[in-house]
Amino acid sequence: MEVVRQSVYDYPKYYDVLFGSDWKAEYDFLCDCFEYYAKRPVRRVFEPACGTGRLLFRFAQAGYEVAGLDLNEKAVEYCNRRFQRLGLSAHVWVGDMADFRVKRKYDAAFNTINSFRHLTDDKSAMGHLACMREALAKGGLYILGFHLTPNRPPKCTEESWVVRRGHLQVNSWMKTLSLDRQRREEKVYLQFDVYTPRRSFRIVNEFVFRTYTWQQFHRLLQRVGGWEIAGTHDFAYRIDEPITVDDYTEDVVYVLRRV
Ligand SMILES: C[S@@+](CC[C@H](N)C(=O)[O-])C[C@H]1O[C@@H](n2cnc3c(N)ncnc32)[C@H](O)[C@@H]1O
Repeated sequence: MEVVRQSVYDYPKYYDVLFGSDWKAEYDFLCDCFEYYAKRPVRRVFEPACGTGRLLFRFAQAGYEVAGLDLNEKAVEYCNRRFQRLGLSAHVWVGDMADFRVKRKYDAAFNTINSFRHLTDDKSAMGHLACMREALAKGGLYILGFHLTPNRPPKCTEESWVVRRGHLQVNSWMKTLSLDRQRREEKVYLQFDVYTPRRSFRIVNEFVFRTYTWQQFHRLLQRVGGWEIAGTHDFAYRIDEPITVDDYTEDVVYVLRRV
C-alpha cells in the first residue's frame, strides 16, 4: 500500500469521515451542559481547534451563532466550504489557540478530543486558558475534554475505528509509542488507511501530546485564574453521570465556568 507521511489534519475529508460520524452523543451532551451549568443563556458558541467543524456546523444548523479557529489552513478551508454549501453563516479563521482575541465574547466554548494537549508547553497551555478566559462572558462555559495521565499505567493506549461514507472507507489506528512523565510527553502514532474506488493509501503520522495528571491540570487552572470547575464528566458524555476526578481517571471532560 502507498504510504504518505503527513499530518492527518492535512486530509480534512478523511478526518471528517472518521470523527464526524460520531457527533451526536457529544453534541447532545454539550447542549445539556449549556442548560445545566451555564449561568447565562447560550446563544453564541466558539470552538478553538475546530478542525473541520464537524460539531460546529451542527450548532449552526440548530440556530446558534458559531465561530472557531484552527491552525490548519486545509481544515479551515474545508470547514468554511461546508458552511457555505449549507447556506450557514459562521466565522472560522486560521489562528493559534494559544494566542488569539475575539471581538465579541461568547457564551460557551468547547474543545473535546484532546486538541488541548497539542499545546506542548506550559506557556502555550497557559496562553490558551487565558485567551479562552477573555473570549467568554462571565457565567459562560468552556467544556474541555482530554485524557489525563493516571497514577498507574494507562488502560487505554490504543484505539481503532472503521468508518464508511458512500464509496469511501477510512480505517484508523492510534497507539501510544511512549509516555515520559518527567518531560510530560506522550508520543503518539496515528494511521489512516483510506480506500476509495480508485486509490488505496495509508497516511502515517507521529506527534507529541503534553501529559497532565489531574493535579497538574488543576494547578494550571489556578495559575491562570478566572475559572471554576463547574462539573466533571467522562467520554460517556452523560450529563446525569458526573465523575469524581482522582488518580485513576483517564478520559475527562471538565466543565469550566468563567467567574
Ligand atoms: C483532534 S483534532 C480536533 C478537531 C475538532 N475539534 C474536532 O473535534 O473534530 C485537533 C485539531 O487541533 C488543531 N490544532 C493543533 N494545534 C493548534 C493550535 N495551536 N491552535 C489551533 N489549532 C490547533 C489541529 O489542526 C486539529 O485540527
